[in-house]
Amino acid sequence: MVRTLWIYLGAMTFALGCKSNSTATDEIIIGEYGSMTGSEAVFGQSTHNGLSMAIDEVNAAGGLKGKKIRLVSYDDQGKTSEVGTAVTRLITSDHVHAIVGEVSSSLSIAGGQICQRHGVPMVTPSSTNPKVTEVGDYVFRICYIDPFQGYVMAKFVTDPQGPSGLGLKRVAILVDQRQAYSQGLSRDFETALIKAGGNVVVKSSYQGGDQDFSAQLTQIKGANPEAIYIPGYYTDVANIAKQVRGIGIAQSVPLLGGDGWESVQEIGGPAIDGAYYSNHFAPEDTHAEVQSFVTKYKAKYGKTPDSLAALGYDAGMLLREAIQRAPSLDRAAIRDAIAATRDFQGVTGKTSLDEHRNARKPAVVLRINAAAKTATYMTTIAP
Ligand code: PHE
Repeated sequence: MVRTLWIYLGAMTFALGCKSNSTATDEIIIGEYGSMTGSEAVFGQSTHNGLSMAIDEVNAAGGLKGKKIRLVSYDDQGKTSEVGTAVTRLITSDHVHAIVGEVSSSLSIAGGQICQRHGVPMVTPSSTNPKVTEVGDYVFRICYIDPFQGYVMAKFVTDPQGPSGLGLKRVAILVDQRQAYSQGLSRDFETALIKAGGNVVVKSSYQGGDQDFSAQLTQIKGANPEAIYIPGYYTDVANIAKQVRGIGIAQSVPLLGGDGWESVQEIGGPAIDGAYYSNHFAPEDTHAEVQSFVTKYKAKYGKTPDSLAALGYDAGMLLREAIQRAPSLDRAAIRDAIAATRDFQGVTGKTSLDEHRNARKPAVVLRINAAAKTATYMTTIAP
């Protein structure tokens, strides 16, 4: 079992960093950086649970290339300013063979630049902004990208025949100006919405961490939208949802979002009931590998895995498969092996990495049931 001690890098003692200067050959070291605390803590914690589970399983089965895998994880608190310290430390003090992280696209771009500079392969399980893998040839992702995710919700909201039966055209957008993810996804959604015959009646913005959204929501109400698309992260989305109805926007105007909503149903209260969001994974999926993962995860952590846990697990298992194939443990050889990944079967579907180091996978759309604090599977939309 991987034991976890969240290390606050700012206050880190010296002893932790004093390891040998060369990459250890008796073990394989995987680094992880993520938001284990802060307003996106679910992102880091769930990913860590999934990744740890994968590594525990590999070690229990005898390890990899005759060696055990050791996971070194640092908390970046969801802050760009912490990412540099965390990733640099993984590379120069811990001498990792490869890195898993981040969830948030802005932080993956920051961390990816450091990995690229040092020639250390990085796999983000869940960052969806196209710019992340554009950083360079050492940066990979195992999930879909936002132009597809934007298309998914545009199709879902406009389609009168689809499972939502919504058939809505006039949509307001509320963007988090601080996040590359939110800005990119809002543009991708808008492009797809217009193609689908809809239009954006108003676009307003906030900054992650804001508490008062009355100005934006008053503006949105004035534009009389049929739906509101909020491509943000779950803590902000919960705060926004709580203010939406108070401002007098009718319950019949659905709220829509993307994967950044993951876990919002746990904190959004009644305000978030009936909202829809696109995601990477649904635990109800009846495929055998999904059900076996859900059962194992519940036994280990006492809760149902979310998409971040599923992607974290897949990132660990995909790295195992790639490192197994690599002719040596050189970082360049591991990079090449990851790049050659084709038809890797994980719990979030099959992953093949294309020449841009991205994956193409279907998305699911979920509907929030606030009373049960769950999100129910509605449909799967293929790329
Ligand atoms: N896709 C989001 C981003 O790129 C991160 C995310 C993925 C959040 C999955 C929740 C679930 O920033």
